[in-house]
Amino acid sequence: MATGITKREQHSQDAISALDFYREPTALPPDNAEVTLSYPNKANRSDIIKPVPRRFLIVDGGNTTETSRLPENAFVLDDNFFVLNELIRENVKVNLYYLDPPYGTGFDFHSRNLEHAYKDSMGAAAYIEFMRRRLILMRETMADDGSIYVHIGHQMLGHLKVVMDEVFGPTNFRNLITRRKCSSKNFTSKQYSNINDYILFYSKTKSYKWNKPGIEPEQSWIDREYPKFDSFGRRYKLVPVHAPGTRNGETGQPWRGIMPPAGKHWQYAPTKLEELDRQGDIHWSRNGNPRRKVYWSADKKMALTDYWDLYRDAHHQSIKITGYPTEKNLSMIKMIVGASSDEGDLVIDPFCGSGTTLHAARDLGRRYLGVDASFSAAKASLHRMRQGLEPMGDYVNKPVKKADSLPLPLGDEKEEQRCGFVVDSRLFAAYPDEIRDLSEI
Ligand SMILES: C[S@@+](CC[C@H](N)C(=O)[O-])C[C@H]1O[C@@H](n2cnc3c(N)ncnc32)[C@H](O)[C@@H]1O
Repeated sequence: MATGITKREQHSQDAISALDFYREPTALPPDNAEVTLSYPNKANRSDIIKPVPRRFLIVDGGNTTETSRLPENAFVLDDNFFVLNELIRENVKVNLYYLDPPYGTGFDFHSRNLEHAYKDSMGAAAYIEFMRRRLILMRETMADDGSIYVHIGHQMLGHLKVVMDEVFGPTNFRNLITRRKCSSKNFTSKQYSNINDYILFYSKTKSYKWNKPGIEPEQSWIDREYPKFDSFGRRYKLVPVHAPGTRNGETGQPWRGIMPPAGKHWQYAPTKLEELDRQGDIHWSRNGNPRRKVYWSADKKMALTDYWDLYRDAHHQSIKITGYPTEKNLSMIKMIVGASSDEGDLVIDPFCGSGTTLHAARDLGRRYLGVDASFSAAKASLHRMRQGLEPMGDYVNKPVKKADSLPLPLGDEKEEQRCGFVVDSRLFAAYPDEIRDLSEI
């Protein structure tokens, strides 16, 4: 080893040259290269956002009124491509999109009374392009501080993450949330039991609305997290007073002759640490290590992580739902609406199915618009928004008395807030009787 390098280093160099010898003579892509999916018939963004003229009718019993602007607080029966395209023309700014599109399962879905609800059987490339076109329209209509949540299964998750990075930019990716959708099943296939689905959360820009959500902790969590009591009987826990990373400023200086541990800095300047100690908020261990006391208070909430175990879909007969297949958990969507929009904001669900998002948005004082192409979804959404929800079992087998429905939360404002019903005029021309029937709900 005349070169002064060790045998091990020489071995690594040999291994690298051997790899170089076999490597194709093509350079690796530059670090800032965009990653995109490639497939036939991938449309240009400029073609996707071009206006597609459509006429919309507000249907109210026997009356139809043509409207030049989509009303708010309404359900629209149409392919969402046309509605999203119309929103661009109307320069609408959407604060929050939640969507739960078909997952690419390869199945057809029926409601609990066996009515056909929707097809989910596109090929992979067609599915991805179908979604990409709509995501481009959604981005175009989002407010600068808006957010989008896309609920999806494992089937297309990987593809959609790449598409959303392409459309929204990878720096606007916020979370990949795993939601536990059901309890463990009696699973017999030769693979692991599938109990989760996923939510891709993106914002339009880095400056987006965020009302930090929290959940009420259970007593066992409080006991575990805040195990100590001070002389006044107040619960507290001990947390470090240092944080990772070295600093040259005040927080990197000794406090009471003690340096922060190697590779760390004090969380506060020594003057602030002195003040905390004077207030009795520092606990000194027998070895002389300081830690800070953090007190429990009843308004403290547990921060939500990106694993959601609390929002499973309806699983027993007493829960009130619409009976529409793949209906999502109302509390989960309320949490999302609360976290990513403010009162009076506009929330849109372009694949709204039974109208869970509309229900959540209305309960939380947001403006809303739901779109679905399925007549069965129109029936479920309008029924839910106008008549309330029904206990699951009863809804399937027998008509439910109005008194059994959940009351509309708006009391006297019921008429004023009645969910509107809008259809694409071409649909109305093809199915006038069915659409009039739906509008009577
Ligand atoms: C998974 S379901 C949504 C369920 C909904 N989140 C709920 O809580 O009831 C997906 C919905 O997307 C609708 N859909 C599929 N393609 C559509 C399109 N191009 N335009 C509008 N709706 C569409 C289907 O009819 C179906 O109701």
